[in-house]
Amino acid sequence: MHTIEGVNFQLSEEHLAVRDAARDFAQNDLLPGVIERDIHTKFPKEEIKKMGELGFMGMMIDPRYGGSGMDTLSYVIAMEEICKVDASAGVAMSVNNSLVCYGLNQYGTEEQKQKYLKPLASGQIIGAFCLSEPEAGSDATSQKTTAEDMGDHYLINGTKNWITNGDTSSVCLVMAQTHVELKHKGINCLIIEKGQDGFVVGKKEDKMGIRASDTHSLMFSDVKVPKENRIGPEGFGFKFAMTTLNGGRIGIAAQALGIAAGAFELSVKYAKERKAFGKTISEHQAIQFKLADMKTKIEAARLLVYKAARDKDAGLDYVESAAMAKLFASEVAMWVTTEAVQIHGGYGYVREFHVERMMRDAKITQIYEGTSEIQKMVIAREILK
Ligand code: CAA
Repeated sequence: MHTIEGVNFQLSEEHLAVRDAARDFAQNDLLPGVIERDIHTKFPKEEIKKMGELGFMGMMIDPRYGGSGMDTLSYVIAMEEICKVDASAGVAMSVNNSLVCYGLNQYGTEEQKQKYLKPLASGQIIGAFCLSEPEAGSDATSQKTTAEDMGDHYLINGTKNWITNGDTSSVCLVMAQTHVELKHKGINCLIIEKGQDGFVVGKKEDKMGIRASDTHSLMFSDVKVPKENRIGPEGFGFKFAMTTLNGGRIGIAAQALGIAAGAFELSVKYAKERKAFGKTISEHQAIQFKLADMKTKIEAARLLVYKAARDKDAGLDYVESAAMAKLFASEVAMWVTTEAVQIHGGYGYVREFHVERMMRDAKITQIYEGTSEIQKMVIAREILK
């Protein structure tokens, strides 16, 4: 059942403080180098380290496991502010928070939490979530990576593709097939540390957008993983991936919202400064109507993102609200950033004015953590079940 009973969008003092802290950090620390990092595909290493110190890398995790002990609404508010400026830093933050830390916190053993969650949530190290494969993107049950049961350990073989934080992560949550005959119910999720024999980081992807994020393929050749590194019971890996991704989709929805809101703010500023035909372009109705449509869509996206976060915080089912938030916010991000480039005209097509990067960054939000088509599939299944 989906209700709006969990919805209360009155932001508390704490939420406003999170927003201000994230906004200050984004403006002071992320903005100065964001164009250079995009051009040179340079991961924001120092900036991510600082995000850990500020408590942004494990926001929803209990302080006794190194986190900030905040709610999902705080997390999406921070994500929006970070992604208004730098969506590459945003995806590293989102994967670490909602896929790696949240997954470990929900389903990990006490030992796993002490050993892995603490350093991950406090930002001392970052993590990666490894589900996609060369032939298993949307069709995620078709896992070809294997985790052969060897008694006291698993032997991992296979390749994972498009892995965010691929090179920079110290710990990876890897989905792998143990019992092929059980299909998705034979998949396990294993915590695999970097630096093990047979674990190789493949080439860095040369991407259209979020170019400063660190995306690689990962190869496993007879990698030994102890049984105690399995998350949950035998065969729980696919369910783990799906339930964790529900929360991940809220994070990516917030990323999309931030990209859209950032492009909108720049467009308003530019429209008030730029003159054409004897007046500022903001005085032309053609531009005014664009700004009105942009703001309306962003506000609608924000309501869906907050609603999904509130559903999760209220303990309600959030499969559908997360999918709706991601579907809508990512479509809005793509549309708004395209309009932002149009408003900026020729200046919008060059790097200096940021909006061309935002348009490239927006595209990925319609693809990762479930394409728009997969979100529609999830929503339709929820409607019809
Ligand atoms: N929440 C909880 N459980 C879910 C679920 C969800 N959203 N979606 C599916 N499941 C469960 C089903 O209930 C089912 O469980 P049971 O067998 O116990 O009933 C199981 O998963 C298999 O589901 P289906 O039978 O529906 O399988 P399917 O093949 O028809 O559909 C799918 C599966 C929904 C399409 C799934 O493969 C999917 O979500 N694909 C998209 C994958 C994805 O989002 N990848 C993101 C990669 S990670 C990433 O991008 C991170 C990054 O770097 C930024």
